[in-house]
Amino acid sequence: MDLVEDVRPAPPLIPPAPKVHARPLGGSALGELRVAWEMGRNLVGTYCEDDFDSLVTPYVFMGQPGLVVSDPAAARQILTSLNYLRPVKARRPLRPLVGEGVLLSEGETWRRQRKSLAPVFTPAATGGLLPHFVAAGAGLTETLDGGSHANLAQAFHHATLDAVLRALFSRRADTEGALLAELVRRYMEGPAHFKLFDFMAKGADDLTFADGDRRRLGARWLAAVDALIAERRAQPHADVLDMLDRLLAARDEAGAPLADQEIRDQCGSMLAAGFETTSRLLFWAAYLLALDPAAQARVRAEVHAFPAERVTSLDDLKAWPLLRAVLFETPRLYPAAPMIARQAQGADAVLGHEVVPGCMVTISPWLIHRHRKLWDAPTAFRPERFLDQPHPWGVEAFLPFGAGPRVCIGAGFALAEAQIILASLLDRFQLTMAGDRPVLPKASITLGPDHEPDFRLSPIVQARP
Ligand code: HEM
Repeated sequence: MDLVEDVRPAPPLIPPAPKVHARPLGGSALGELRVAWEMGRNLVGTYCEDDFDSLVTPYVFMGQPGLVVSDPAAARQILTSLNYLRPVKARRPLRPLVGEGVLLSEGETWRRQRKSLAPVFTPAATGGLLPHFVAAGAGLTETLDGGSHANLAQAFHHATLDAVLRALFSRRADTEGALLAELVRRYMEGPAHFKLFDFMAKGADDLTFADGDRRRLGARWLAAVDALIAERRAQPHADVLDMLDRLLAARDEAGAPLADQEIRDQCGSMLAAGFETTSRLLFWAAYLLALDPAAQARVRAEVHAFPAERVTSLDDLKAWPLLRAVLFETPRLYPAAPMIARQAQGADAVLGHEVVPGCMVTISPWLIHRHRKLWDAPTAFRPERFLDQPHPWGVEAFLPFGAGPRVCIGAGFALAEAQIILASLLDRFQLTMAGDRPVLPKASITLGPDHEPDFRLSPIVQARP
């Protein structure tokens, strides 16, 4: 018998994904109803084999022409062009929370807002928020301490809401910021989702009689933030600077301070855009690492060598190259924002396909990131592919944060926060799945899990270097 050890590398992890249909689902009136039903259930559940090979696919849905664009250069061009705006109807669910903030504004108002927000998101400003992220990570591990199992989907939801409330207002989600946390959580879990009336409405202001829940919760949120702004104006705080301090200090192009209403709307924009997305990123990263114990052990070695509580600058995050690569590979496979929608204002042509005014254009990071012509082993979890990439933003087929002028303003914030929170968790616990049921991605606004699985937590006893 041959006693030579088998040193073949382990096969790569192919994490769960929804079934890919053999053929397109639409094509007839009945087929369109099926697509509408499937999309309402799961935005990433309707794709067919061809979608992962095709770079552009025209379609007509309920009489409305549309184009799915997966060619990375064409997708980036659309996201950069002034001819393509976010669909007006997409503003309906979030407007009572976000008002006319940067997330929903357009044209000159948006340009001015984006410029005045730039100082709030510089690397130096994000560096200044690190103590808030370290505190949120410590809060998470404290809550989990002593338990052998955890619902990490819920735990990350709480930790990211806590992190963003600390970063914005220096408020903790479970004590003095509890009301704010409750209002945002209730809004994002309920009224923020699309309703039938949103699909039926022709514009942002039609059929709003059905939006009572949005208006009521939105009004309570705005009143709570107004009170915070008034309190901060009356008594500026001298502690670690937060984003509210920076918004109060921001100046527009004419050198004037921002109006209270604008500050309030920007705070709503940050919460609406930033808390659930980052929570999803963390959930999928933890899931992938629980399925891949070898990768988890290598990431843990990095965080043991440089624990999260020692982080004081963005440079410190360089101590965790594999953790960072995991946080790029995760949204490649499970992008928190799985679909980016635009509507053509004027006529155009994309890769030889006519675009008429009003045409819906879908750019799906889910499709692009799993495209067979764009990635090697597209369905495999291989964080190392990002280790060789000093600037993953430069990878043309990688769009987890969008692209062009409306690219996510909080990408650096989200990555710093996620690295610190995940490092805090992995430093303290080994993660495995408590059951065998695969967790499938299910997308409505963000890409979440189809059920919230139980993770097994094994405490790690480790002497500090
Ligand atoms: C993993 C976490 C995140 C993901 C995947 C993500 C993804 C995205 C994407 C894809 C867009 C572009 C949407 C489009 O072009 O239609 C976007 C925009 C935006 N994001 Fe994020 N985001 C994340 C975290 C954050 C955080 C933490 C903040 C703030 C603290 C934030 C604030 C915003 C804002 C304000 C916009 C609108 C920018 C504009 O229209 O000019 N995001 N995000």
